[in-house]
Amino acid sequence: MGFLLRDLHAVAMGRLEISFGRLRLERPGMVASGIMDETGDSMVRMIKSGAGAVVTKSIGLAPRPGHKNPTFTEVEGGYVNAMGLPNPGIDLFAEEMAVAVRAGPVIGSVFGSNAKEFAELAAKMEDYGASAVELNLSCPHAEGYGAEIGSDPKNVRSIVSAVSSSVDVPVWAKLTPNTSSISELGRAAEDGGAEAVVAINTLKAIVISAELRKPVLSNRFGGLSGPAVKPVGIRAVYDLRGALSIPVVGVGGISDWRDAAEYILAGASAFQVGSAVGTRGPKVFGEINRGLEMFMSDHGYGSVAEMVGVARE
Ligand SMILES: Cc1cc2nc3c(=O)[nH]c(=O)nc-3n(C[C@H](O)[C@H](O)[C@H](O)COP(=O)(O)O)c2cc1C
Repeated sequence: MGFLLRDLHAVAMGRLEISFGRLRLERPGMVASGIMDETGDSMVRMIKSGAGAVVTKSIGLAPRPGHKNPTFTEVEGGYVNAMGLPNPGIDLFAEEMAVAVRAGPVIGSVFGSNAKEFAELAAKMEDYGASAVELNLSCPHAEGYGAEIGSDPKNVRSIVSAVSSSVDVPVWAKLTPNTSSISELGRAAEDGGAEAVVAINTLKAIVISAELRKPVLSNRFGGLSGPAVKPVGIRAVYDLRGALSIPVVGVGGISDWRDAAEYILAGASAFQVGSAVGTRGPKVFGEINRGLEMFMSDHGYGSVAEMVGVARE
């Protein structure tokens, strides 16, 4: 009964509502790019399950089949994937966006090989009704894309700047942890006009099969995600919060409310959940929302904003 009353109170207060940059979300947790976000219907399901927004699968200019199987394997504490950015191409994705944006805020994730491609893709996402665009400058397993271009601060700055001058919606830069200084990449994104940075994408990894005496994934290397990457993601958020004045969105290894709270206390203004949506299903958002509300009520926080970066003080 105590739980129910406190719960109702928190809902009435809109305790989970966040606003950062020009965006207002009813709940701070979003679906991370690449997990149950390839179709309009799956995105609608995520929003109905309690996600504050959905980030789409990263979309490029042309359809791409992605890498050959096997593209996904489980390891202790997480997963290693090398999907290779499979997607239908931006023009066909218009249909999925039309369905998804009716249910709630959709963040359009895009990947390109240069600033011009990113700008063109972002403008289309804006036309389709995206509330913001997230630039994938960080996928570790697609040749010529993602981290291959997003590890250089000069590229990050010029791509973000080209996109910022082509769209009116907020531009977010999703950064790679596979670098000696994620803060430097963050500063380049901020200088280019990003309204938020998102950290982290997966950690570059290789899994070898002793029996087969070769790498498990067809692409050989892939990206590590899931609980194992959480301390790396939290460190990235902690550093970025200290180095930047734009908000930081935390992602990496969040499976429950406690993980989400840790990211917020480290400096995340919002968070995303990837692998745990795959393993636990969309209900993970309802569980995180309820747990976070309880935690906030127990510790006297009236809003998520009051919690942001408290562990840094
Ligand atoms: C199967 C899979 C596909 C992914 N696809 C994308 C993608 O298309 N674009 C992107 O920016 N990140 C992609 N990611 C990375 C996630 O969005 C997230 O940054 C990462 O997995 C860490 O979060 P997690 O530990 O909650 O999964 C993918 C991750 C997984 C596991």
